[in-house]
Amino acid sequence: MLGSVTATAPLPRDAPVLSVEAPLLSVRDLTVHIPVPPHVLRAVDGITFDLRRGETLGLVGESGSGKTLTALALMRLLEPPLADLPRGEVLLEGTDLMRLSEVDMSALRGRALSMVFQEPMTSLNPVMTVGRQIAEPVVRHLGLSTRAAAARAQEMLRLVGIPDPARVAGAYPHLMSGGMRQRAMIAIALACRPSLLIADEPTTALDVTVQAQILDLLAELQREMGSAILLITHDLAVIAETAHRVAVMYAGRIVEEAPVGSLFTAPRHPYTRGLLASIPRIERNPAATLPEIPGMVPGPAERPAGCAFAPRCGRALPRCAEEAPPLAILTPAHRAACWNPADG
Ligand SMILES: Nc1ncnc2c1ncn2[C@@H]1O[C@H](COP(=O)(O)OP(=O)(O)OP(=O)(O)O)[C@@H](O)[C@H]1O
Ligand SMILES: [Mg+2]
Repeated sequence: MLGSVTATAPLPRDAPVLSVEAPLLSVRDLTVHIPVPPHVLRAVDGITFDLRRGETLGLVGESGSGKTLTALALMRLLEPPLADLPRGEVLLEGTDLMRLSEVDMSALRGRALSMVFQEPMTSLNPVMTVGRQIAEPVVRHLGLSTRAAAARAQEMLRLVGIPDPARVAGAYPHLMSGGMRQRAMIAIALACRPSLLIADEPTTALDVTVQAQILDLLAELQREMGSAILLITHDLAVIAETAHRVAVMYAGRIVEEAPVGSLFTAPRHPYTRGLLASIPRIERNPAATLPEIPGMVPGPAERPAGCAFAPRCGRALPRCAEEAPPLAILTPAHRAACWNPADG
């Protein structure tokens, strides 16, 4: 049943990637179009992936590749006039979120699935104490009394490593450091023990030591609660440390998907290979162009007819300019959208 979180055993990092168990989340052909007259931007262009219980899937790609819009579409937070209603299927424990009424969707948001945003100050309420912000969804979704929810709020603050939870529960977000706010966001997101957590660049705004602490915290909470995590980041080092599997996005599409080990040791898509070759530079400046890959990501309005990466690709064939390659199965766990993939 949706919302009833089953405690699952933690998934070891080296767990077999293929499973007979039905995935927790199944995304099929998810598409987000943004009307910018006279054009329509294909910001998310038919992406398909699965996520298992207790698994962390890293979604990685350069700025503008469509990662945040994917997350917002999954949460059903995109609406006209900003975007056309997303199309495709988003099955969470078998229920298609795209077909739910707004009332039913609100009943799941914050309960069966929740999201941690990149910049906590934009999503924390500045005029409500942190404790109330954690307690409110607990009352609304789980029907706990105000007193029990307040206790749960303090428990969550303790769980995310905030010292003196009783005092912090009564504090307002602006009094907290960036790291503390991000911990508070995570406490809100996990208070109802969702089966799916979407974390959009959860550590990008933080300094490196705090980043590591937050990532450890997410991994620990995942072990405890069995939640699946969709971890969105441009930072491959974060992916290497936290994810079981990785999906690489380029210009609104997933171009490669593999277990984390294979992606780093045997990347097949030329874009992924360029991304990996650029790691030290991306870490220093996330907005930098990738020196190993000439050119820039095409804007959604200027996508070529064939593979969007073809104009920058050293392995491009004539066919690549004409026909977009499908995400093809290379080995049972490894997929790439490329007419001329590199050897594994
Ligand atoms: N409100 C909007 N209006 C017009 N275009 C938009 C809007 N929001 C996003 N886009 C475009 O959609 C594309 C995908 O945006 P998205 O925010 O999903 O990228 P991202 O991968 O999350 O990038 P970043 O790493 O910078 O967060 C980009 O080209 C962006 O310019
Ligand atoms: Mg983003």
